[in-house]
Amino acid sequence: MSPMWEVENLRKYFPVEKSFIEKLFSRKTEYVKAVDDVNFSVEEGEVLTLAGESGCGKTTTGMLLVRLIEPTSGKMVFEGKNICPLKGEELRQLRRKIQIIFQDPYASLNPRMKVGKTVGHPLQVHGLAKGSERKSKVLEALREVGLAPPEKFVDLLPHQLSGGQRQRIAIARAIITRPTFIVADEPVSMIDVSIRTTLIDLMLDLRKSLGITYLFITHDLAVAKYISNRIAIMYLGKIVELSEKTELFSNPLHPYTRALLSAIPVPNPDRKRKIIRLKGEVPSAIQIPSGCRFHPRCEYATERCKIEEPSFIDINGHLVACHQEVDSHN
Ligand SMILES: Nc1ncnc2c1ncn2[C@@H]1O[C@H](COP(=O)(O)OP(=O)(O)OP(=O)(O)O)[C@@H](O)[C@H]1O
Ligand code: SF4
Ligand SMILES: [Mg+2]
Repeated sequence: MSPMWEVENLRKYFPVEKSFIEKLFSRKTEYVKAVDDVNFSVEEGEVLTLAGESGCGKTTTGMLLVRLIEPTSGKMVFEGKNICPLKGEELRQLRRKIQIIFQDPYASLNPRMKVGKTVGHPLQVHGLAKGSERKSKVLEALREVGLAPPEKFVDLLPHQLSGGQRQRIAIARAIITRPTFIVADEPVSMIDVSIRTTLIDLMLDLRKSLGITYLFITHDLAVAKYISNRIAIMYLGKIVELSEKTELFSNPLHPYTRALLSAIPVPNPDRKRKIIRLKGEVPSAIQIPSGCRFHPRCEYATERCKIEEPSFIDINGHLVACHQEVDSHN
């Protein structure tokens, strides 16, 4: 069976705004290479997580998949169809099937719109139900996200809800068109720690009951470990490692992944573990380092790493882009 998504050579370059003075000195347009040749697939029913430090291109990738922004180049094949050229009615049909949940439940809900209207809005946009049918679908969606009794919530405004309840509303709005795929962009990072697991469990339950596939985005590898089937580690606009989660945690191959994993706190402080400190800051996405873009921060970097970009090697489904690994398997 072919995967639900096949993403090939996906790029998103944002032109950098220049001041008048800067324009006088240089006519050349510079670009933020937010997503720079990304390739991955998503199997139906799985949770694939994109993880990595701030600014590595996670959100941009998610927004490209749901067609909120247009790619600079590349291909995004969803259920066998390249969605990049879709317009008009075809794009509208696609939007019913793919949804996004944002990080900030305070910013993503209209403060003046009552819960019932917010959750039912996609049904109105897609002409899927009106009147009493829409009302009953809204109540059903609220029930599905654990807001009970749902009648109690329909006339409330966002400010009358807690952060967790608001994110449940955002999830209800996302599932009401019965999507098969959801991008969940840091959906619990602004939620109280005490209820994060409950919300993640809700999303996993919906995956089973409604048959939803997720692209989950997080910078928190502990969350990634809990929710994912597979994890892709991004660095400066590129995926550097992608693997099934248990394999990734027990056998990380890329030096960047190893550094990220070493920074996760361990529950038992007696269990000594070597912390790998990354050198310096993440470089600018405007001036991406030559060769392996991780080389200025990598303790194993060689002269070759500064010149030659590593290609991916597939070690029994565990993908990694690092010269060391490629060499050791050749
Ligand atoms: N609309 C835009 N215009 C210009 N640059 C942008 C735009 N959106 C994102 N970027 C830049 O693209 C890069 C990737 O940003 P993105 O938001 O995708 O990263 P992220 O991995 O989601 O980060 P975070 O963990 O902080 O949410 C960053 O350098 C960011 O500044
Ligand atoms: S290719 Fe070189 S610089 Fe890049 S991660 Fe591997 S060893 Fe480090
Ligand atoms: Mg982001």
